[in-house]
This record gives sequence, C-alpha cells and structure tokens, in this order.
Amino acid sequence: MKFFVDTADVEAIAELNELGVVDGVTTNPSLIKKSGRNILEVTKEICEMVEGPVSAEVTATDAEQMIAEGRKLAQIADNIAVKVPLTWDGLKACNVLTDEGFMVNVTLCFSANQALLAAKAGATFISPFIGRLDDINLDGLELIADIRTIYDNYAYETEILAASIRTANHISDCAKIGADVITAPPAVIQSMVKHPLTDKGLDAFLADIKAGGISIL
Ligand code: E4P
Repeated sequence: MKFFVDTADVEAIAELNELGVVDGVTTNPSLIKKSGRNILEVTKEICEMVEGPVSAEVTATDAEQMIAEGRKLAQIADNIAVKVPLTWDGLKACNVLTDEGFMVNVTLCFSANQALLAAKAGATFISPFIGRLDDINLDGLELIADIRTIYDNYAYETEILAASIRTANHISDCAKIGADVITAPPAVIQSMVKHPLTDKGLDAFLADIKAGGISIL
C-alpha cells in the first residue's frame, strides 16, 4: 500500500521523507490556505521533494476552466496529479486530461456509484473520504470495501486513494480492505509508531543496559 501525505506543509513532508514512507502528497484548497503560501510556488517545492504523485486541486467548477487550470498545474512538474471534484464537469475534465496523458485524482467521492463513474472517465485515482462519512454516522470503510469489490469485478485500473483519514486504525483497516493508497495528515502517520508496550519494553532494556554496563561503540 502506498502512503501519501495529506498536507501542504513542506517541513512536515521533509520530516516524513527521512523515514522513506512518502510515496506521494495530496493537497486541497483548505490545506493550501492553511500553508499561507502561493499554490503554484508551494506545489512546485513539494514536487521537487517527492518523487511520487503530488495532487493539486483545480479551483474552477466548469469543465473548460478545470481543463485549462489542470493543464497549467501539470506544467509545474511531471509528477503532478490534477485533482478535480466528483461532479459532472469534473468527470468531463478528467476524461480530457487523462486522454492528454496527465494523472487525474477525482476527489470528494462519497458513493460507490460516483467511484464507478470516475473509473469509467479514466481517473488515475479516486479519493473516497472516510472521515467525513463517519462524521455523519455513515461507514467510510464500507465504502472503500464496496469500491474495491466493484473495481476488482471489472479490473478497473483506477487506484483507490483512501482520503479523509482521521486515525491510525483507519490506515490499517484500509490496508486490510486493499485500498491502493492512503493519504493521511502527518500527525496520523506519525501516531502509527506508538505502542505503550514498546515504550515500557524499551524503558526496561535501557535500565538493564545501564545496570549491566553494556556498551557497543
Ligand atoms: C485528500 O485528498 C483530502 O483533501 C483530505 O483527505 C480531506 O480530509 P479532511 O476530511 O480531513 O479534510
């Protein structure tokens, strides 16, 4: 399973890069606003830091403008994935941009039928939002499982990019279901390492290292 980082914070990306866990990055207008940076500048910087796909979202809502924005975003770097919303116009733009050879991430997916349409339109990635479904008492993970079944039934190549991840458990659940990619905030990825028994065990080993005068270098 690939790990994308859901942020426009270049320092956070650099920190995770040191562990070799970053296969790509996703941004959205809210994350760009939070960064306080110019979208074109910060996206270029991220593309230089990361080899894998970097999703940058269009701002327009009509297909023609989305296509124009997508072409401009794709000029930033070869690893740009143009992000379009799951609307009729977004799917039209997806179809045109993928035909032109660009990667397209179709975002704001909340149903299996939407995911089916995105695959038919040639999307490189489909982004179902787990957390936002859970927020309204629906089951985000069930949606990931449904899309997995549908895409496998017909061998669609669109990759399932599980988004709106809120907890480390969401990540392991997505891995069990077979999502191709997860995108999560840096803090959620970092929280995956934590286990109280690891801390307790290490404390005991450190005490014995000290008591036993054990040294290696
Ligand atoms: C990813 O592409 C999405 O923009 C992101 O995961 C949304 O997450 P949120 O629901 O926590 O805002």
